[in-house]
Amino acid sequence: MPTIVAVSGSPSTTSRTAAAVDHALAVLTAHGHTTTHLAVRDLPPADLLAGSRDTPALWTAADTLSRADGVVMATPVYKASYTGLLKAFLDLLPENALAGKVVLPLVTGGTVGHLLTIDYALRPVLTALGADHVVQGRFLLDADIVRGEGGSAVLAPAAHKRLTESLAGFTDALARRGGGSGDDGESLVTAVATAGSAR
Ligand SMILES: Cc1cc2nc3c(=O)[nH]c(=O)nc-3n(C[C@H](O)[C@H](O)[C@H](O)COP(=O)(O)O)c2cc1C
Repeated sequence: MPTIVAVSGSPSTTSRTAAAVDHALAVLTAHGHTTTHLAVRDLPPADLLAGSRDTPALWTAADTLSRADGVVMATPVYKASYTGLLKAFLDLLPENALAGKVVLPLVTGGTVGHLLTIDYALRPVLTALGADHVVQGRFLLDADIVRGEGGSAVLAPAAHKRLTESLAGFTDALARRGGGSGDDGESLVTAVATAGSAR
């Protein structure tokens, strides 16, 4: 099974994006994937602000990312783009840090008016980092994500279904690339859509 790392780039302590990421990773874990959530806000702010990549925290983060077959790159829309926090982290990664990886962009926002942040802002930087295959991204409205106890997310049924479809496309792409014997995307959609309808 492919190893998947999700990077979330919200500075918020009550981040809906991070909660949606945990929700997505729970789905992937249930289908046998090894997953890790790398929340940029947990990295030392001084390292990020000073652009210090030669620190233990940044080495560990870069190493975690380097071991991934697939990456979920998640960010809220801030001022019509991805967050400055995410950019500070991405700027510290080695050249071609995403080479050989399949990447799923996951963006949350307050209005669908900024849906194109995925393709106009996030996708170019993923390509610049050498991502092999950036699959179609997923945009979730913040109103469709409710943080539960302990930061877990409950997604509106339609949002849950769309996210599940994106995860299926992502795991399909990973399987086609041969990053381990990936899950069958169709079965992921079916299984999780069924679970979602029971909410
Ligand atoms: C500083 C700031 C800027 C924002 N700018 C936008 C924006 O330009 N477009 C948009 O759709 N939502 C915008 N939002 C709303 C967030 O994208 C949305 O609430 C998101 O789900 C927050 O995710 P988070 O809880 O993980 O930080 C902004 C929110 C903040 C705090």
